[in-house]
Amino acid sequence: MPKIKLLKATEILDSRGNPTIEVLCELESGVSGLASVPSGASTGIHEALELRDKDKSRYNGLGVLNAVRNVNEEINDFLKDKNFDQSSLDQTLIKLDGTENKSRLGANAILGVSLAFARACALDRKIELFEYLGELAGNNIFTLPLPTFNVINGGKHSDSGLEIQEFMIVPVGFQTFHEKVEAGAKIISCLEKILKERGYPISIGDEGGFAPKLSSNEEVFDILEEAISDASYSPEKVKISIDAAASTFYKDGLYNLRIDGKEKNLKNNELLEWYEKLSRRYSIFSIEDGFAEDDWDGFGQMTREIGGNIKIIGDDLTVTNIKRIKMAIEKKSINGVLIKLNQIGTLSETIQAILLTKSAGWLPFISHRSGETMDTFISDLVVGLSCQCIKAGSLKRGERVCKYDRLLEIENILLTRKKI
Ligand code: PGA
Ligand code: ZN
Repeated sequence: MPKIKLLKATEILDSRGNPTIEVLCELESGVSGLASVPSGASTGIHEALELRDKDKSRYNGLGVLNAVRNVNEEINDFLKDKNFDQSSLDQTLIKLDGTENKSRLGANAILGVSLAFARACALDRKIELFEYLGELAGNNIFTLPLPTFNVINGGKHSDSGLEIQEFMIVPVGFQTFHEKVEAGAKIISCLEKILKERGYPISIGDEGGFAPKLSSNEEVFDILEEAISDASYSPEKVKISIDAAASTFYKDGLYNLRIDGKEKNLKNNELLEWYEKLSRRYSIFSIEDGFAEDDWDGFGQMTREIGGNIKIIGDDLTVTNIKRIKMAIEKKSINGVLIKLNQIGTLSETIQAILLTKSAGWLPFISHRSGETMDTFISDLVVGLSCQCIKAGSLKRGERVCKYDRLLEIENILLTRKKI
């Protein structure tokens, strides 16, 4: 088991210009691993706690100097000169923190250490990170995922005025990851052309998708179908996914959004009717967070009604938390789970969440956050554990593209190995 020599954290900026934490983990062997932690905007209330300084004189209170100090002092003092494997390291961090939601040391501080240690271990062993992650999960069959490109940004990720947070294109009818990325890029350029021709500014939201002020959520589906067709693909070859992030438009038991351009306050069964209508009209691959984070009935009803053909994904509902995923399995609420490392705060717990999701026969869907860094850990995670899907935004912002670039690189590595 490798011995930790030093943990060193610093405050860096994420893709929104907000502070986040970067951690360097140096092992006794001299090898070191670096990792940084992303940050959400439509954060679920059940997520592990992201420690922010709340000092209004710096970065509107969003500084992470307390989390940085927790790594450099308490965590470093406790872990240095000790030997760990991934599991014992993560267990030690959880115990040292001592709270249910990692609120004392901060899930951002803890995750930074957990991921930097994983990178250092892979480098120490001279293996790829995805192979190291595969070993942790008992997996040695590596497959590339289906990418879902978030090409229109709404909700809290842009000022487009669209209530639905993410509209994604999903290239299901292609063989290789390279082909899937190429199809995505082709559709995105057709979409850009359509928006320009109709006089919309080509502004971009937090996840690299366009942010046009369209008159209705339904119009987005029509425009996406047009872009897919202009790129000469069929609706069977390229499907559409949404992340409604419905907690963001839910209040006092009602969902407030525009349907066909008209403002409505809907009960969950009425909102389900709208999703059903959409699923009859368009070629939909998945619906994420169709209901608010504690609306278990809404999710369960939707899974019963349309879950046979469509992936019903929980995000704010399940928050990569084993207890909540177990609850969802018992209630048969969904059939897919979004996986975000910083929702739970350690690598080991994230891997457990993925394995639990798989054991239910459900889809583990690996995800970035709306505030990202150049760290590509999730690309190795999705391959290392052979998960079927990833979402990492559009192909328009560096902190999104680097995740897809790493996956292209991994595909090349795996292809080269097969040839040898
Ligand atoms: P977030 O958005 O990172 O702002 O939470 C991503 C998502 O909801 O899936
Ligand atoms: Zn989501």
